[in-house]
Amino acid sequence: MRTQMGIIGAGPAGLLLSRLLALQGIDSVVLENRSREYVEARIRAGILEQNTVDVLTGAGMGDRLHREGLEHRGVYLQYPGVRHQLDFPALCGRRVWVYGQTEVVKDLVAAQLAGGPPLLFDVSDVAVEDVDTDSPRVRFTDADGAARVLECDVVAGTDGFHGPSRAVVAEGTGQQLWERTYPYAWLGILADAAPATDELIYAWHPDGFALHSMRSPSVSRLYLQVDPSERIEDWSDDRIWEGLATRFALDGWELSTGTVTEKSILPMRSFVSAPMRRGRLFLAGDAAHIVPPTGAKGLNLAVADVVLLSRAVVRLLQDKETDLADAYSDTALRRVWRATHFSWWMTSMLHTTGDPFDAQLQLSQLRRVCSSEAAARELAENYTGLPL
Ligand code: APR
Ligand code: PHB
Repeated sequence: MRTQMGIIGAGPAGLLLSRLLALQGIDSVVLENRSREYVEARIRAGILEQNTVDVLTGAGMGDRLHREGLEHRGVYLQYPGVRHQLDFPALCGRRVWVYGQTEVVKDLVAAQLAGGPPLLFDVSDVAVEDVDTDSPRVRFTDADGAARVLECDVVAGTDGFHGPSRAVVAEGTGQQLWERTYPYAWLGILADAAPATDELIYAWHPDGFALHSMRSPSVSRLYLQVDPSERIEDWSDDRIWEGLATRFALDGWELSTGTVTEKSILPMRSFVSAPMRRGRLFLAGDAAHIVPPTGAKGLNLAVADVVLLSRAVVRLLQDKETDLADAYSDTALRRVWRATHFSWWMTSMLHTTGDPFDAQLQLSQLRRVCSSEAAARELAENYTGLPL
């Protein structure tokens, strides 16, 4: 098999990259080691920056997003006795959309299978070779157990945090890694409950952080800060609803409850690896960086990476110019570090540590964001996404 771009991983990064390249006349093959059902069922965050919506729309992926996505003008920040609304259009002229990453992936898979470039699920033993030459290749075993070789001009490692691509970059470069593991986790639920709020609520509470998000007018997505050692079996639905009601409590407001359809505990970490390139192998998305979920930057960063990467690959393969490919890693990493700082800052402001000094600093920061237009604008610009 031969293709211009071999793409490892059918998460949002790999799928969108394949689509952006196809629109520019560059062919690709996407290799995914999981099944279509698995990839389409993974529940992830659900906030799209304006940039992300613009890119998806430009790629012809905006139909259902514009029909079913919920346009949000801001968020609420809450601490005991106060629920303050930040108005993003007034602060920075931009807004965000609530549309689950799961839905983005379903839309991309459907488009790919309806006449897009080949997308192979259930492959195994994916290995990248000869990335320091102009003709790298990817070896893999297909779903029928046959050994295959994909000859490429360029390879994209969009295989997420656990994929094999990052290690290949590490072997040939002086790879640097930065990592922070946070001493808290999120317990997340999906519930058949009409959200009792028009915008997301980020709540600081002495018992810990809570986030009220949503997926549709009838489905709520809710999170509670818990200790990373907690086991989901120890959290009955009643215990979760009680924790949420306590942390979101506000006079005259009531949480809507309903059947819990999914619950899990998510670890929180920041991770950045550089460079994002070795020769003809380019990393994008979670393969190169992870942010904690506070601020919902993960998917948006993956989209920003593949926009840059698609431009670099078009220039490399069609114009035979290496400038954008050479600049890719540094350009992408500048945005990655901005989002890494923002997610770390939101996380640090909102999650209780048990230390009373930390609590006073957090409350002071929250009061500042809720009273100073300059401080609120800084949050709004980062949350809605800086220009690509
Ligand atoms: N071979 C083929 N595919 C692989 C391999 C492998 N050896 N290892 C991993 N993959 C696949 C995974 O199964 C997954 O479908 O690569 C894909 C990577 O997708 P994501 O983890 O969704 O990463 P990415 O596309 O970069 O999207 C980033 O996902 O994790 C969230 O918060 C993150 O929202 C962000 C987004
Ligand atoms: C979500 O809806 O899953 C979500 C929203 C906002 C966040 C994180 C997750 O900051």
